Amino acid sequence: MCASDLLRVEALSVSFAGLGRSLPAVQSLSFSLGSGEIVALVGESGCGKSLTARAILGLPPENAVLSGKIFFEGRDLLALPEDAMRSLRGSRISMIFQEPMTALNPVLRCGHQALEILTAHGLPPSRERVLEMFTQVGIADAQSRYDSYPHQLSGGMRQRVLIAMSLLCDPLLLLADEPTTALDVTISRQILALLAHESRERHMAVLFISHDLRTVESFAEKVGVMYAGRLVEMAAVGELFSHPLHPYTRGLLNASRISSSHKRLLTIPGQVPSLAAMPKGCPFAPRCPDVLDICHEVFPQATHLADHTVHCFAQARN
Ligand SMILES: Nc1ncnc2c1ncn2[C@@H]1O[C@H](COP(=O)(O)OP(=O)(O)O)[C@@H](O)[C@H]1O
Ligand SMILES: [Mg+2]
Repeated sequence: MCASDLLRVEALSVSFAGLGRSLPAVQSLSFSLGSGEIVALVGESGCGKSLTARAILGLPPENAVLSGKIFFEGRDLLALPEDAMRSLRGSRISMIFQEPMTALNPVLRCGHQALEILTAHGLPPSRERVLEMFTQVGIADAQSRYDSYPHQLSGGMRQRVLIAMSLLCDPLLLLADEPTTALDVTISRQILALLAHESRERHMAVLFISHDLRTVESFAEKVGVMYAGRLVEMAAVGELFSHPLHPYTRGLLNASRISSSHKRLLTIPGQVPSLAAMPKGCPFAPRCPDVLDICHEVFPQATHLADHTVHCFAQARN
């Protein structure tokens, strides 16, 4: 483990019991994140991104079975007692979600909800501190927003309130699970710029989750591509966009371009397999344009090319 790693996920697996066996939703996932670094996890819906974030936060679904290790500042979070995890959550590690409305309590004023975060972590419930944070994340007229109920704010403003709440205890790591997916393009860009700014200012690491590879291009430093619970490729953002090695990554890049001849969004044919019908071998094999016989038998080991990692037999042959 590199001394500078803030977070190191090692062989994380998350599975569910079903059909009389264990159904794997995340398998042997390993990656690391340095202090202040912005790492993105991307992949289509159902690839295990949210489960990964919830495992790191210590809030997996009740029926999930976890294995592997999640080191945060050198301690394995999966081995921490619940009270120790609870005190980390919301303070050293915090999280923002896709839909701010469901993450906010509809019957409490925004300022009050922010105060509760401070008291939950043993800090003085300072109105000034909350107002200062609201202002810092670009909430105009913070005084009146403090007294607003969530439904009185726009989606973008609600996400700013949640970001302010997530930053109140000065986290070292922010987990951001599709925080801009519910927002329109302009607001989404503003929120990404705000997160990047806060990450720089505070030297705060961000694990940013998105189904859209293009969203992360201007934002993340490193990108991990997940497919059906597996990390299939990981590299620095420029390297991944200029030299994508995995056929799934190439498919995602093509899918986010509009076909100029057809004037429509290109897609990768087929879909992510369900947990109950996970193919043997590489889960992408049934959709893969470069598939080999062996791909249907075993999942490939990692090939490392400098800091670029890929799991693909077709690539390893090149
Ligand atoms: N509580 C649960 N019980 C059973 N399966 C689940 C549960 N939560 C998630 N899953 C399954 O795990 C897979 C990964 O889910 P998720 O991490 O939410 O994907 P993503 O965030 O990449 O869209 C999906 O197939 C999903 O249906
Ligand atoms: Mg998700």
